[in-house]
Amino acid sequence: MSTLNSEEPKERFSLKKRDFGKGFKWGVSTAAYQIEGGHQADGKGPSIWDIFTSKSGKIYQGQNGNIACDFYNKYEEDLYLMKDLNIHNFRFSISWSRVIPAGVGTPNPEGIDFYNKLIDKCLALGIEPWVTLYHWDLPAVLEQKGGWTNREIITWFKEYVTLCVKRFGNKVKNWMVLNEPLVFVGAGYLLGVHAPGKKGMKNFLPAIHHAALCQAEGARIIKQYSPQARVGTTFSCSFIEPFRPIQKDILAAQRIDALVNRLFIEPALGMGYPVKDLKFLKKLEKYQLPGDKELLQYDFDFIGVQNYTREIIKHSWFVPYIKARNIKAEKRKVPITAMKWEVYPDSIYQILKKFNSYKKVGEIYITENGAAFKDILEDGEIKDKRRTRFLEEYLAAVLKAKKEGVNVNGYFVWSFTDNFEWAEGFRPRFGLVHVDFKTQKRTVKDSGKWYSNFLKSFK
Ligand code: NOJ
Repeated sequence: MSTLNSEEPKERFSLKKRDFGKGFKWGVSTAAYQIEGGHQADGKGPSIWDIFTSKSGKIYQGQNGNIACDFYNKYEEDLYLMKDLNIHNFRFSISWSRVIPAGVGTPNPEGIDFYNKLIDKCLALGIEPWVTLYHWDLPAVLEQKGGWTNREIITWFKEYVTLCVKRFGNKVKNWMVLNEPLVFVGAGYLLGVHAPGKKGMKNFLPAIHHAALCQAEGARIIKQYSPQARVGTTFSCSFIEPFRPIQKDILAAQRIDALVNRLFIEPALGMGYPVKDLKFLKKLEKYQLPGDKELLQYDFDFIGVQNYTREIIKHSWFVPYIKARNIKAEKRKVPITAMKWEVYPDSIYQILKKFNSYKKVGEIYITENGAAFKDILEDGEIKDKRRTRFLEEYLAAVLKAKKEGVNVNGYFVWSFTDNFEWAEGFRPRFGLVHVDFKTQKRTVKDSGKWYSNFLKSFK
C-alpha cells in the first residue's frame, strides 16, 4: 500500500545508497525531442514529431518541442548542474534527423558535432553517457515512405545505427536500441494519438514486426563495430492485475500483460510473439519472412525496464481484439500522479521479478521511473514532497527485489528537467529540476536535492 498521501514521518525510509551495492548505476533519463529544441538548427531535418505537433491538433494547447528545454544550446549548463547534483549517469537519445536529415544518405556534420560535444562534455565531467538510438522521432522523410510500416525501415535503421556507432562508439559504452517499442507503435500506428498519427491494425501489425526486427538488428550492428559495447533496449512495463478474481477478468489481464509486457521481449529471447495469449498476433504472420524468427533474436547485455504504475483489467466485449479494458485509477480512488497514473510502488517490484524470471534475461536496469506532480514555485523553491516520497517508495521496492536476488543494477529517474511530455505538452512536470519555459531558468526541486544527498551518501 502506498503511503504517499499519508502523514507518516519520512524517517520511515532508511534507504541507503550503499544497500544497492557499489556497482549500482544511478542516473537520470531524457529524450532528444523532449528536451533539445533547436528543431531547425544547423541543418537538422524534420522528424515526425515536428510534423505531428504542427499539424495534428492533438497536442495539449498546440504546444511543441521546437524550443523545449533549449538543451541544444544549454547542454553544458545542464551537465554542470547534473554534476553538482552528484548524478554520474546520463541517459539521452540521439535525434536521427539531426544526424541524417533525410533519414538516409548524407549525414549532417553539425548534428554529429553536437552529439560529439555533448558526449565529450559528459566524459570531461565524469558523467557516463547512456545513449538511446530511437526515442520516437523518426525522420519525416521516412514516414512519407511508410515509416515503421515499411520493411525497408530495417535498412534505413541499420544505416543510422552504423553511423552512430562509428562516430560515437569509441566514447559511448552503453547503448539502448529502442525506447518503449509498444508505446511508439501503439500510440503512433494504432491509436493515432502520437506521431505519426496513424491508426488501425493494418499499420499497427507491420510496425510491431519491423520494430521488433530493428531492435535485434540495431543491437547486432552496435556489437559489430564496437564489440566491447554494452547493448540493451528498453520496455514500458506495468504490473497488470485482474479487477475481480474470476476467470473472465483473469484471462483479460493475461491478454493485456502479453501486449504490454511480453510483446517485444519474448521474440528477442527466441520465444516468438505471445500468440497463445493474444490471438490477433497470429496476423503478424503476414509480415514475416523465412528466417525472421532468428533475426528477431538477440542476447542483450541488459534490459531497460521502465515502470510507473499498475493497471487493473476487466473483461469487456466491446473492445475489439483484446476484449479487455482498464479500470481507471481515478475511479478506483487510489493515489494518483498528474498523469492520473496510480502510485503503486509494488508494481516495480513485481515487474522486476517478472523480467528476472526469464532465464535469458541477464542484467536489468530501471531506465525510467518517476512522477509528474503539480509543482509550486515559491520564493525560489519547490517543495515537491510527493515526488520525493514517490521515488523513495519505488526505490525501496527495487531494493526489496534486489535483496531477493533480482539482477537489477541501475536506476534512472525520469527525468532530469521538466520537459515536453508528448501529447500532454509541457503541463506534466516530471523533472528533479524545474524549468520555467519562458525564461529557461532552472530551479532544483526539493526532490532533486534529496536525490543529490542520497547519491552523496556513499561513493
Ligand atoms: C516513457 C517515455 O519513454 C518518456 O518519453 C515519457 O516522457 C515518460 N515515460 C513519461 O511518460
